[in-house]
Amino acid sequence: MGFDLGAPANTALFLYILYSFQKILLPSSSPPKSVPNEFKAGYSWMPKAHPPTVLFKTYTPKTLEPFNGVDGGRILLAIDGTVFDVTAGRNFYGPNGMYGNFAGRDASRGMAKQSFDVEMLTPIDQPLDKLQDLAKDEIENMRGWVEHFTSKYIVCGKLVENDA
Ligand code: HEM
Repeated sequence: MGFDLGAPANTALFLYILYSFQKILLPSSSPPKSVPNEFKAGYSWMPKAHPPTVLFKTYTPKTLEPFNGVDGGRILLAIDGTVFDVTAGRNFYGPNGMYGNFAGRDASRGMAKQSFDVEMLTPIDQPLDKLQDLAKDEIENMRGWVEHFTSKYIVCGKLVENDA
């Protein structure tokens, strides 16, 4: 069966193919008037705005505490001196989350002992928990959590003493 250019569907297809070839072989050479930042302007390489950045900072128990997510803002927590931005895990660490106790706090002891009891938390005006009484397997457990958090969340700072 031959190709019948007279058939309307074939004619339309043929014209479309011609048009497509013409677009590829002879692209429009007029440069854009302003720097495009949207795909519909023909480019997609220039983002509209800079993506949000996270600054690696030093936190103390007192400066970490406001990041408890109560006001709907960022949620940070520390384990073994490393501060993680766990905002993405708001379901876990937000005010109604199962692990909300850890939000804005040094969670090291709770992570080591696998407990979210409030006694696991050091008051924010006290020196940092040195964790010296912890057993080897508890320390290992805590380090396991550090690994989990490092691969899942953003490392955004380190925790130091209030007067450091
Ligand atoms: C009643 C016992 C518990 C149940 C039923 C439970 C349940 C869960 C579930 C379902 C997850 C989510 C796992 C996932 O989606 O990846 C999870 C994660 C987690 N659990 Fe528990 N848990 C319990 C006890 C504890 C305790 C005592 C701790 C204390 C440290 C704890 C700390 C965590 C942490 C830190 C995560 C990871 C959350 C994250 O990835 O941000 N859990 N748990």
